Amino acid sequence: MRLIHAVAELRARLASETAIAFVPTMGNLHEGHIELVRMARQRGTCVVVSIFVNPLQFGPNEDFDKYPRTLDADCAKLAGLADVVFAPAVGDMYPEQQTLYVEPPPIANELCGAFRPGHFRGMATVVLKLFNLAQPQIAIFGKKDYQQLAIIRQMVTQFNLPIAIIGAETSRAADGLALSSRNQYLSPEERTEATNLYRILTEVANELKAGEKDLARTELKASQALANRGWQVDYVAIRSQNGLIKPVVEERKLVVAAAARLGKTRLIDNLEVCL
Ligand code: PAF
Repeated sequence: MRLIHAVAELRARLASETAIAFVPTMGNLHEGHIELVRMARQRGTCVVVSIFVNPLQFGPNEDFDKYPRTLDADCAKLAGLADVVFAPAVGDMYPEQQTLYVEPPPIANELCGAFRPGHFRGMATVVLKLFNLAQPQIAIFGKKDYQQLAIIRQMVTQFNLPIAIIGAETSRAADGLALSSRNQYLSPEERTEATNLYRILTEVANELKAGEKDLARTELKASQALANRGWQVDYVAIRSQNGLIKPVVEERKLVVAAAARLGKTRLIDNLEVCL
């Protein structure tokens, strides 16, 4: 495994590769990331993992400064799994001020986008730059960031990028909590409470499977259930899996998505529901 910081070195190392499977990350790797890398290993002959905490996708009051940077530990976890770890400095990714951006589709202003203005523009811009640098044939993203995955799929389709995007199932702790680097911000009490996000989403999924048709009422009930337990709820939303648009009547492929804060930590999760 080779750790590369410089763009020129990355290009030289990957120049002759023909089956690059790419996993973009912000580091602080957990088992969920490692599962994505294992999937990449099965699908490509050269596995590239990027580790870059992208300033463009953090708002002024978000956790960019305190986001955990654990490059040595991350590389130890990737040894034997990845061929290349690309860990650029901010100056390598943005050698001049970024004045051109990927303008994401309208869905980027809903759900998480409504609470994190500019986040998906910054995310899509860095992912396009990373795609241009690594030039992968395959890229793997976790379904936990469902909205991110939907936007990347649209970007790849609409910009004719020759990259197969694979969505990987969410890795969960034994009690159901979706694995996330931000879970480590939780106090022990908050960590115990955090499992209720998954539990309440599961209840919504079960109600939909049982034939519930009043989506607005179901969303509100779940939102109130979280609020009653002390969560500050950004949203609970039932959307179509297809582009996360509001479901048409008789839509059969749904996703229940939520974002809520426990103390200072914002958690997101979702469950796909096929009726
Ligand atoms: O999901 C993430 O970790 C980030 O949003 C990504 C895709 C690496 C872009 O910075």
